[in-house]
Amino acid sequence: MEIMDEYKLEVFKDYFDSGEIRKFRELMMYYECAMLEVKTKLDVLNKELALKKSRNPFESIKCRIKTPESIVEKLARRGIEFSVDNIEKELNDIAGIRVICSFPDDIYELINYLLEQDDIRLIAIKDYIKNPKQNGYRSLHVIYAVPVFLSSGAHYTPVEVQFRTIAMDYWASLEHALRYKTDLPDDKH
Ligand code: GTP
Ligand code: MG
Repeated sequence: MEIMDEYKLEVFKDYFDSGEIRKFRELMMYYECAMLEVKTKLDVLNKELALKKSRNPFESIKCRIKTPESIVEKLARRGIEFSVDNIEKELNDIAGIRVICSFPDDIYELINYLLEQDDIRLIAIKDYIKNPKQNGYRSLHVIYAVPVFLSSGAHYTPVEVQFRTIAMDYWASLEHALRYKTDLPDDKH
């Protein structure tokens, strides 16, 4: 699976020489592998719990790698100097997974089962379900780090997982569309 074609990498031509672009591609490959790793863990739990409970703990799962445009925009917004090292050091949401569950209880259950696995590390957790944002946004965000096994050894790589119920997802999609339409920044809502 090729994630970054030449066209998408155009955006980096002003910042990176060919050596840095190679380093960037390699870094993106780690994120892609880490994302697949976490997705597989969730798929395995889904299968096991579906058998036990006779229903799926989640309805859908979507993966995405942050686009180069979005990486450039986020570092600029935060006033961080643009480099491959800073992308790796400063951004925890390059690899992203969104899991849509039927019930909040399933969300907490999945999070705990993942944390019990001994190759996964917890980097950060933000519970916007228990503590919704001021604008009403609800979701549970967890940054996990999982090892990607390279010839040089285990390379722990962060993956952001957003857990939501169907109702929370519906609300977030509407709010996102509305913000886009009215051109309001995130914190002005
Ligand atoms: P970002 O810079 O946007 O990544 O935010 P952050 O690093 O402060 O992290 P946070 O956990 O607050 O948000 C991460 C992601 O959750 C965002 O990129 C959005 O996908 C989603 N999100 C957070 N707040 C909102 C919101 O108010 N509305 C919607 N629709 N999505 C949100
Ligand atoms: Mg983000």
